[in-house]
Amino acid sequence: MRKNVYLCTYFFYMCGIVGYIGKQEAYPVLIKGLHRLEYRGYDSSGVALIDKQKELSVYKAKGRVSDLEEFCKSKAISGTLGIAHTRWATHGEPNNVNAHPHYSQSENLALIHNGIIENYAVLKEGLIREGYTFQSETDTEVLIQLIEYVKISNRVDLCTAIQLALKQVVGAYAIAVIENGNPDLLIAARKSSPLVVGIGDAEFFIASDASPIVEYTKQVIYLEDEEIAIIQRNEPPKIVNLNNVEQTPQISQLELSLNALEKGGYPHFMLKEIFEQPRTLKDCMRGRINVENNNVTLSGIIDNKEKFLNAKRILILACGTSWHAGLIGEYLFEELCRIPVEVEYSSEFRYRKPIIYPDDIVIAISQSGETADTLAAIEQAKAAGAFVYGICNVVGSSIPRNTHSGSYTHVGPEIGVASTKAFTAQVLVLIMMALNIAKEKKTISQEQYERTLTELVQIPPKIEMILKQNEKIEDLSKIFTYAHNFIYMGRGYSYPVAMEGALKLKEISYIHAEGYPAAEMKHGPIALIDQEMPVVVIATHNTTYDKTISNIQEIKARSGRILAIVNKYDQKVKDMADYTIEIPETEECLDPLLSIIPLQLLSYHIAVKKGRDVDMPRNLAKSVTVE
Ligand code: F6R
Repeated sequence: MRKNVYLCTYFFYMCGIVGYIGKQEAYPVLIKGLHRLEYRGYDSSGVALIDKQKELSVYKAKGRVSDLEEFCKSKAISGTLGIAHTRWATHGEPNNVNAHPHYSQSENLALIHNGIIENYAVLKEGLIREGYTFQSETDTEVLIQLIEYVKISNRVDLCTAIQLALKQVVGAYAIAVIENGNPDLLIAARKSSPLVVGIGDAEFFIASDASPIVEYTKQVIYLEDEEIAIIQRNEPPKIVNLNNVEQTPQISQLELSLNALEKGGYPHFMLKEIFEQPRTLKDCMRGRINVENNNVTLSGIIDNKEKFLNAKRILILACGTSWHAGLIGEYLFEELCRIPVEVEYSSEFRYRKPIIYPDDIVIAISQSGETADTLAAIEQAKAAGAFVYGICNVVGSSIPRNTHSGSYTHVGPEIGVASTKAFTAQVLVLIMMALNIAKEKKTISQEQYERTLTELVQIPPKIEMILKQNEKIEDLSKIFTYAHNFIYMGRGYSYPVAMEGALKLKEISYIHAEGYPAAEMKHGPIALIDQEMPVVVIATHNTTYDKTISNIQEIKARSGRILAIVNKYDQKVKDMADYTIEIPETEECLDPLLSIIPLQLLSYHIAVKKGRDVDMPRNLAKSVTVE
């Protein structure tokens, strides 16, 4: 019979972890931390604390962090040392038993874990032979049992047991462990999953990212792979590696503000983040674009100028929305810099024996900087001798720390699970990179360079103009809530935008949607068109405008219902489309920065009308730290 496991009668993979040791009651700090990390996973959650009697207790609940809070309301929870976890299930369905923290066999140890123990099955078999039994289907429970087994069989202290156990582990982990009877010790370790240690005034924090910490301290240590933080009450954390060699940690200063983590009056983070884009794009341009001198420079490009000038090929690696930004990068680098580009899903690239040359430039794009497939693809590219450049948002995350150089997008924390402001900033960084390289390579005329730059700084006010149509878009969304399927189409730079628009709709409204290059419709998908099928067409003035008009006519002839994104005064498309949303004109290569905005708003409003949980859609997590 297990002691002190309080299971809520409700059941959960990528996860958020938080831990506290100090002078305050740990529970409120942990719960607040879990809410901040909930974007990383929200199937189930749990906390473990050590109380005044030095007794270890675990509380877990299936569902959101609020379900855990509800469950804990009636419990007398206390203690100034604790760990907590919010889960996105990888091994075992989301339920109370699979939720973290997990006890060891004797229930003397409790552990939280973000990552995957790949050799858990072999380790588990060995432990079963030694008489260990398992309650859950998780890889995490195997790890805590292993730590206890090593501790008992080798008669070593907890830290040594963790070091020895982790040496046997293949996979990724960010873990924290506490021990019954020891209210003064918190041990945390990481490999390939992020972990930050916060250093307060006689109090210390550990977390998957800085968001649960920033309220209490700005001083943090980003643990490196295979480092262990030994945090004793009232003593500065000691960092050692798996061989117990003491490491000198670098203390960083957080730039994150607390306001950036709040909704600021908006009903959802996603809407707030859509509306933030005029500002986030200005932040992303700051210090990089000099309007007086008509110049754009990125330090990462200038520092590695020769590499970019001599590159025979650019490989762009990313997943999801970041991959869509990468596709826009392909159009940009090929048009402006005349460098051939291939854009790859990181997950496919890493397993298909890719050909990588030492003079390839690899650009890895990731909002979170933690996407496991992109990280693995980067390692492969580095091993083949390629130069790897990261475009990331989260400062200090794993991708910026594992690439040769890069640019941050500087949009602040993106909390809504559906990526919006990170996407436009990724596209903006790619535009600035392409302009910077093209100028150096002299593959762009001075006239086009200056015109594009002048237009670029006009993008934020133009987005403001689009955002003013929010109410109109909300009204339009009512017309479409009936739909079970959507097609999005565009050509050239608008094709990746069509795919991104479709992804936004899918992930938050659960309506099936496809993004298509408009000309491809007649090669198959046009068979789907009837009066029930909404077709969103990006029909702005660009080199393929006339072709897009023909594609609209093809849809019209099959009674499809057309919602067109058009430039002002475009009577031609207005006459053909059932509904239109106007956006200002700009340079063709900048158009994605504008045309995506109404599509973000459209998905948002449709999802709200359908009663979906916009910020935390089902089955998704913000940071995909498992492959
Ligand atoms: C969609 C979305 C995901 C991410 C993808 C990659 O709105 O957010 O498709 O773009 O999981 O994540 P990052 O950019 O963090 O590598």
